[in-house]
This record gives sequence, C-alpha cells and structure tokens, in this order.
Amino acid sequence: MSTRIETYEQYKAAYEASVNNPEAFWAGVADQFSWRRKWDKVLEWNFTEPMVKWFANARLNITENCLDRHLAKRGSQPAIIWEPNGVDEPGRVMTYAELHSEVCRFASVLRSNGVQKGDRVCIYMGMVPELAVAMMACARIGAIHSVIFGGFSAQSIADRLQDAGARFIITCDGAYRGGKDIPLKNTVDDALQTSGGVERVIVFQRTHTAVSMIKGRDVWWHEEMAKVIDSGVTEAEEMEAEDPLFILYTSGSTGKPKGVVHTTAGYMVYATYSFENVFQPKEGEVHFCTADIGWITGHSYIVYGVLCAGGTSLMYEGIPTWPDAGRFWEIVDKYKVGILYTAPTAIRSLMAFGTDPLQGKDLSSLRVLGTVGEPINEEAWNWYNEHVGKRRCPIVDTWFQTENGGILISNLAGVTPSKTSYATLPLPGIQPILVDEQGKEITGNDVSGNLCIKFPWPSVIRTTWGDHERCRQNYFATYPGYYFTGDGCYRDSDGMYRITGRVDDVLNVSGHRIGTAELENAINMHTGVLESAVVGYPHDLKGQGIYAYVIMDSMPDDEPHTRADIAQTVARVIGSIAKPDKIQFVPGLPKTRSGKIMRRILRKIAEGELQQLGDVSTLLDPSVVEIIKDGRL
Ligand code: WT7
Repeated sequence: MSTRIETYEQYKAAYEASVNNPEAFWAGVADQFSWRRKWDKVLEWNFTEPMVKWFANARLNITENCLDRHLAKRGSQPAIIWEPNGVDEPGRVMTYAELHSEVCRFASVLRSNGVQKGDRVCIYMGMVPELAVAMMACARIGAIHSVIFGGFSAQSIADRLQDAGARFIITCDGAYRGGKDIPLKNTVDDALQTSGGVERVIVFQRTHTAVSMIKGRDVWWHEEMAKVIDSGVTEAEEMEAEDPLFILYTSGSTGKPKGVVHTTAGYMVYATYSFENVFQPKEGEVHFCTADIGWITGHSYIVYGVLCAGGTSLMYEGIPTWPDAGRFWEIVDKYKVGILYTAPTAIRSLMAFGTDPLQGKDLSSLRVLGTVGEPINEEAWNWYNEHVGKRRCPIVDTWFQTENGGILISNLAGVTPSKTSYATLPLPGIQPILVDEQGKEITGNDVSGNLCIKFPWPSVIRTTWGDHERCRQNYFATYPGYYFTGDGCYRDSDGMYRITGRVDDVLNVSGHRIGTAELENAINMHTGVLESAVVGYPHDLKGQGIYAYVIMDSMPDDEPHTRADIAQTVARVIGSIAKPDKIQFVPGLPKTRSGKIMRRILRKIAEGELQQLGDVSTLLDPSVVEIIKDGRL
C-alpha cells in the first residue's frame, strides 16, 4: 500500500501529520482499503465514558480486505504456509485462492449450523490453518470470534463461554505441541459440564485420537465441510465500521479475565498499517510470527494484518525447542523466512542451548527480526542480533497490548533508529505521555513515569464485553482523560521510550499475562488454604516468575507434596502456564491496620532484597516479616 514510510524523514513528517490532523491522516490510510461504503466521519471520541468511533457508518467486511481483493493479483500466492509440529509430516501451503475458498466454505458451515451475525463463537484449537479459517469464517458472516489459547483449562474456557454468552465453540480433537498430544476436545467437554448454553461444538480432526462426540451437539469439521455443495463465494456480511470483530480475554489487576472488544474497521486499518510500517515486508516475503494465535500478536501479525497487506504468513504448530533447539533455524532455512517475529522468552530459552543448534544453518534469508511481549534484556537482544541476525538485520522491539490491537511503540525496520532494549518511538497516530502518581504529565526528556496515551488510535479497546464500566475503570479512570497502559516507562534524552514493565498487579510470565488476583483466587480454592498473596520476581528464563505466599489452616507435613498439589489446582483452574514457581508457607501476611496486604514488602522478599524492605512500622504485626524473610525460598 502506498502509505508505507520509507525514510526517517518520512516518518517524522507522517508523525507530525498524524498529530496535527489525525482525521485527514487516518482517512488517507483508510483509503487504501476496500469499502462497501465510506465513512461519514473519521473520528468521534471522548476518553471519559469512554466512547471511540472510527470511520462511523462506513461499511465493509474485513475478509474481503484479507482475501477477495487480493484474488486477482495474488490468487496463487501462498497466504498461509503451515509447518507442523512433527519434522516428518509434510507442511501445507494455502494460496489466497484456496484460503478464500476454505473461509467461504466454513462460513457456509457456520451458517448452516445456526450461527448468525452478532453471535459469539469461541475457538479453542491448536495452531493449524483451520484456526485462521475459523476466525475469518466468523468475520465473513459477522459473528464475533473469541479465540481461547490452547493452554487454558476447562474452567477458563467455561468462564469465557459464559461471559461471552457463546452458543458455539470450534475445537480440535487434540493438538501436537512438542512431545505432547494435548486433548483439546476432552477439555472442552469438561468445560461444557459446568457451562450451559453451548448448542454446537464443531471438531476439526488433527490428532485422530479418540474423542467423545455427543449426539445433537458435536459435529465433525470435515463432515460439515463435505456437505457444502456450492463451494463458491459465501456472500460476506456487510458490517458497520464499529461492529465488534472479536473478543479476546486478558488478565487485569482485579477479578477474572475481561473480554477486550475490537471493532471491524479501526482494527483492520491499524493492524495492517502497523504491520507494513514496522516490518517493512517485501513482496512475496515469508513472515514468521512465532506467537500463538490465542494472543493478540497472533491475531494481528499471523492473521489479519499480514493477510490484509497481501503478505505470506508462516504458521508453526510446535515449540522452539522440539525436537531440538535448532527447529526455528531449520524452519527459517526451509521456507526462506524474511521476517522473524518472536518473544524474549523464546530467545532466552534458545540462548540456553548455546550456538551449537545454529551451526550449519544458513539464515541468509532473514532480513528483519522482531521481539514482543516483555522487556528484552540486553543479553538476549545482543544474542539475537549477533547469532541470528548476524548483525545485518534490524531488530524491531515492538511494544503493545491486547487492548491496543496493534504495535504502538517500535522502531520501523531499517527506517528509524533502533536502540538496545528500547521500543524507541511511537508509530504515527500514537501520542504517548508519561504521568506521575497524581496524573500530572511529566514533560521533557530523561524522565520516568507511568505510560499513558492521550489520543485515540483506530484499534484502541472499545469496551470490555458486557461491562463497559469495567473498561472505564481499568483504563480510563486512573488518569482521567488518558488511556492508562499499566506499564512503567523511561524516556531517554533523545525522546526514546523504554518500557520497564507493569506497575500494576499483573505479571508477565514467559510473555503470558497473568493477574495476581486471579492466581490468588485459584490458590485459595485449594483445600486447607486460608489466604494467599502472589507477587512476581525476576526469573532468568521466564522474565518473571510466580512467587506465592500461602497460609494453610495447619502447616503441611509434607511441604513439597502440598506445593505440588496447589500447583495442580492452579493448573486446573487457570492452566499450566500459571503454575507458581515458588510456594512459601507462611503463618501470616504483612498487613496494614486496615487489612491491606503490603505487597511491596512481599515483592522485595521474593526479589531477595531483604535489606530494603522500607518502613514496616505501619504493619499490624511487623514480626511476621522476619518469619517470612527467614523462610524465603
Ligand atoms: C504487556 C501486554 C502485545 C504483545 C503480547 C502481549 C508487555 C509487550 C513489550 C515490549 C516491553 C512489553 C507490557 C504490556 N510488553 N510488549 N516490546 N517491551 N514490554 O500482550 O498479553 O496484552 O501484554 O506486555 O507490559 O503491558 P499482552
């Protein structure tokens, strides 16, 4: 598309234009897409309710932008290349024409199974191309998809189905990940025992393991697809710009995960614009984003942004270290990957194997490297730069959040300057500011503060599903008039941004976002647990580890065993990604006289900074601090 920024000068000009006249700027970007009807007004907004509307009254369907409009030029170009988990299994390539036809056929399956515009459809699948097909088939007919990461538990699925009011779920019999065969359908069955309301389960066959198929409720994907006689075009539903496209659940500092709502036009425009400008893809180049589609990174940079831009997206089913730590490099060489987009946690886990797995790998196709999900430490950045990029590939450190839809702060590959462990500069349209605890803007450079954004961009969160007040409370109430990210940030003397991590009670464990409140709820469900408090601590591989302080009704006789049991309960309630790394049994927690847990102290102890606990005199029982210190794991 022609809104591609190619020089640093152009970046500065685009940035300025986007701030001086946002409506004209975004209208210019949006002009590049295919609309059934154009907008009446580019932007209406206030951050108090909040209310944000982009491209009001425009009409479109995102799948026509991802698929139909590319057919003439790119019908036979690969849209999705799929690399399976197993090294001996052949991969698959789906051209734009094939993907279009699959999406249309599955859209027709959805319709014949009773899915209507506006219905919520949950998707709990492994990383197979049919996952992308399922998402776009929903979008084709105006159904709202909600993808649930395959690592979440039955209870988590049930919570999401319930919250979204979903009557449909699409799953697989199982999923291959590394040496494991994950029983997805069984987990869905467990979820449906506690969660009513689901009328239809569509099951894609991947692992051919035995599953139970309930009459009248469960149907096979392949059998339903075979019934579609007219494999032609399923007419795309004409959507309003602000119609919801998807819900994606994410953790906050309180309560259960909330459903972040993204809408059709704004999300499409920003996911695509950010993809093109951050990664600077070349015609026909293979883009390999290693994220799971269950996260926003996968939604935007495996599926929607890449396909809207007419790119080729490589989707990998497995994990970086299986069958060995050379797997990513084999995939890069096999498909001549140009852009590799991964997470610091993956880089660190590969670093641990040294450079042997890189021996004999060519990697000369690589042109751009990307990182996302957590702050990247210098050691990991340098290793990535030296051993993977051979010092010739720009590294884009891309900062964003589920609520943002697309990358907000990042260098543009080869176009704007990079700086180790800095996300660097905001994309055009993004107006970041730092504020102090009182919400006062901190101006100037070489300053730190809480990161807020003061003006809407097209893919800012619109609401949290079913609970608009929660959206306001979470993001727009802390610092009135601003969107609050929950991240701390430093702006250096050149005005470059370095994200320093969450300042709220949200943990980032191996790039997975987990709320401490959620963890405590899960731990407290375990028999014998009276109370618990969870904090994060620096972890070499995971970025942050989970440290839980637990009060039991009586001290356990076999501590390791009880720890393992509690971890099992957490895996049951949330998923195995949330298992605590350390569980310390304590007789009490440091609380103020008003009963508030002083997490600051617990954090310091978990971090091992025992000398810097600060003032403990306001505690109800300061002696408990000594006991906790002595028992530190
Ligand atoms: C949180 C959002 C959207 C990416 C997947 C995670 C942290 C994300 C970076 C980065 C430092 C980062 C922040 C943010 N984060 N990218 N490049 N540098 N921190 O999405 O699950 O919504 O988590 O991930 O703390 O708030 P998410």
